[in-house]
Amino acid sequence: MNKRIRTAFLTLTSAALLTSAAQASGNLEIFSWWSGVEAPALNALVKLYEATYPGVKVDNATVTGGAGTNAKAILKTRMLSGDAPDSFQAHAGQELTGTWVVADRMEDLSSLYKSEGWARKFPKSVIDLISYKGGIYSVPVDVHRSNVMWYVPATLKKYGVRAPLTWHEMLRTCTTLKAKGMAAPLALGEGWTQQMVWESVAVGMLGSSGWTDLWNGRLKFTDPRVVDTFVIYGQVLDCANKDANDLTWQQASSLVLTGKAAFNIMGDWAAGYMTTTKNLKPGIDFAWSASPSTSDTFIMLADSFGLPKGAKNRTDALNWLKVLGSKQGQDIFNPLKGSIAARTDSDLSRYSVYSQSAAKDWKSKTIVGSMVHGAAANETFTGGFSSIMDTFFIGHNAAMAAQASQTLADTAKLGQ
Ligand code: GAL
Repeated sequence: MNKRIRTAFLTLTSAALLTSAAQASGNLEIFSWWSGVEAPALNALVKLYEATYPGVKVDNATVTGGAGTNAKAILKTRMLSGDAPDSFQAHAGQELTGTWVVADRMEDLSSLYKSEGWARKFPKSVIDLISYKGGIYSVPVDVHRSNVMWYVPATLKKYGVRAPLTWHEMLRTCTTLKAKGMAAPLALGEGWTQQMVWESVAVGMLGSSGWTDLWNGRLKFTDPRVVDTFVIYGQVLDCANKDANDLTWQQASSLVLTGKAAFNIMGDWAAGYMTTTKNLKPGIDFAWSASPSTSDTFIMLADSFGLPKGAKNRTDALNWLKVLGSKQGQDIFNPLKGSIAARTDSDLSRYSVYSQSAAKDWKSKTIVGSMVHGAAANETFTGGFSSIMDTFFIGHNAAMAAQASQTLADTAKLGQ
C-alpha cells in the first residue's frame, strides 16, 4: 500500500470505528463489588467507555463487601432467576470456570480474542485460567498479588524491629512488639482476610509445589505438614487484634497507617487504597515486602469480566469487554487499583513504585493461584472453607480444621 492510499484507508477505518462507537446506544449494566474506596479505578474505566460509546448509559451496579462476599451471593440469585447483568466481575480460575462456565451460563469469547489479537497480549498462564474445553470465557482486567505484607517504616523504626522474613521470625517480632506495648502487632480484618493470612502461611510452609498439590488433590489436608500450617496460623492469630471479625480490610489496613499495629497482610488493592484514596507515598509513608516465608512466590489472582448468555445488551457488553481488555483501559484502571495490567504490554512508567516492583516479581517469581480469590479451588471448597476457618478462629483446633478441610476437599472433588 502506498502512503496516500494507506492514509486514506486509515482515515476510513477510524471513521468507521468512530461511527460504530457513536451509533452504539442503550444501556449497559456491569456488576461488581468495587464500591466506595474500591471504586475509583472502575469509575475511570467507565468514563473511558462512555467517552468511546457516548450513546450508552452505564448502570454501574455494585454490591459492597470486600472480596465479593456479598456480591457473589446476589449474582447467584440474579443468574438463577434469569436476570443476568450484561457483564460481571469474576475471578479468573475456578470461580469463573468451575461455576458459571461448567453450568453453560457464559459465552465463549474466543472470537473476541481473535479479532482483538488478545492471544498474544495476555500471558498464556492467565488465559489458561479463564479457558475451558477450548473456549475463553472472560477478559482479565488486572493481576493482583495476595502475599504482600504492608508496614509503615517509621513505626518499625520507633519499635526497633524489621519486617520479618519468615513466619517464625514474625512470631518472635510479635513477642518483642507486645513487650514494648503494642497490643496487637498484626492488623487483621474479617473472615476472608484471615484466610489470606492462612494462605500465606501455607504457601510459606509448603512451598509452591506443596500448595499446588493441595489443589490437585495430591497432598492431603491431614498430612502433618498441612496440619502444621494451621498450628502456625493459630499462633499468628495470637498476634492479631481480637476484633478482627468486625473490621473491613480497609479498617485493618488503617490500623497500620495509624501506628496501632505494625503489619498487615493484604492483597495489593491495599496499595491502591493507600495511594489513590489516602494519597500516601509508597516507599515513604508505607512500605511492603512479601509476606513471611513467601519471597520466592507470587500468589496471584486476576479480576475479570465475562459475558453471560442472554445478556440484554450484548453488543454494548462486548464493547465494554473491548475497552477493559485494551492497553489504554488497563493502563487507566490498574495504576489506580494497585494491581498490574493483565496485558503484557502496559506502560509501567504510569505505575507507582510499588506496582513496578510487583510487575518485576510477576515475571521473576514462581506463580501460584490464590484459593481465597477463586484461582485455585472451586466454590464448593472456598465456601465451605470459610466456615471451617470461622470455627478455627474461635478454637484454634488445627487437627479438627485439617480433618474438616480434607472432608470438604473430597466433597468438592478437588483435583478431579
Ligand atoms: C478481591 C478482588 C480485588 C479487591 C479485593 C478486595 O477479591 O480481586 O480486586 O477488590 O477483593 O475487595
